[in-house]
Amino acid sequence: MPETSPSTVRDWLRGIEVFARPLPVFEPEKAPAEPSGLFLTWLTEAVDAGVPDPHAMTLATVDEAGDPDARVLILKNADSSGFQFAAHAASPKGVQLAAVPRAALTFYWAEFGRQVRVRGRVVPDTPERSAADFLARGPIARAEALLAGQSRYLVDPEARERALERSLARVEAEPELVDPAWTLYTVVPDTVEFWQAAASRVHVRLRYERESTGWQRRRLWS
Ligand SMILES: Cc1cc2nc3c(=O)[nH]c(=O)nc-3n(C[C@H](O)[C@H](O)[C@H](O)COP(=O)(O)O)c2cc1C
Repeated sequence: MPETSPSTVRDWLRGIEVFARPLPVFEPEKAPAEPSGLFLTWLTEAVDAGVPDPHAMTLATVDEAGDPDARVLILKNADSSGFQFAAHAASPKGVQLAAVPRAALTFYWAEFGRQVRVRGRVVPDTPERSAADFLARGPIARAEALLAGQSRYLVDPEARERALERSLARVEAEPELVDPAWTLYTVVPDTVEFWQAAASRVHVRLRYERESTGWQRRRLWS
């Protein structure tokens, strides 16, 4: 660890190399007409290379006052209709999405120097599909969700333990029990950008933009 004077931290950070590894070459002219295929190709390459948590992404939302918020979530599905994640409607992100149903997602696969940026409106999926996602979770995750306490102040850890034990007993007694507030959300993209780092620092960017006629592909300055 460096000394904590500001200039030392600045120098220390400046000395950490970025993109100092062999990186793939991205040829945007060969990109497919729709973004979902290219996204799944990049995700598959990250999975195959053993990138840790390759399906983790940052979800950015805004609250009613317009203040931004962001956190990491797991991607639940991706296809031509959009990108899915699951969350409790009473969590801060759920409350924010009820007020402002728009979001941005960011994926970063450091081993490849690749970033994907998604922006769009957010639509809750059907109660049936949200219920199926809930029931696919493990018993402790279901018991936790039923307590609807995510991100609240934890003032009494022992009381939480007791509540969790009661909730787990309920889940075990009623395996079909579903929390109706558990929600699968789909980010329906307006734009999806593919960003490939280059050691030269002339990074390659391609943005898919949804227009009335379909997807348009546009190169961006690095
Ligand atoms: C790798 C990783 C994966 C996560 N996956 C989820 C997830 O799928 N769903 C979720 O609600 N929280 C997930 N979390 C926790 C969230 O980042 C966040 O702390 C939590 O959802 C509360 O967010 P909120 O207060 O903005 O609602 C994950 C955290 C990490 C680091």
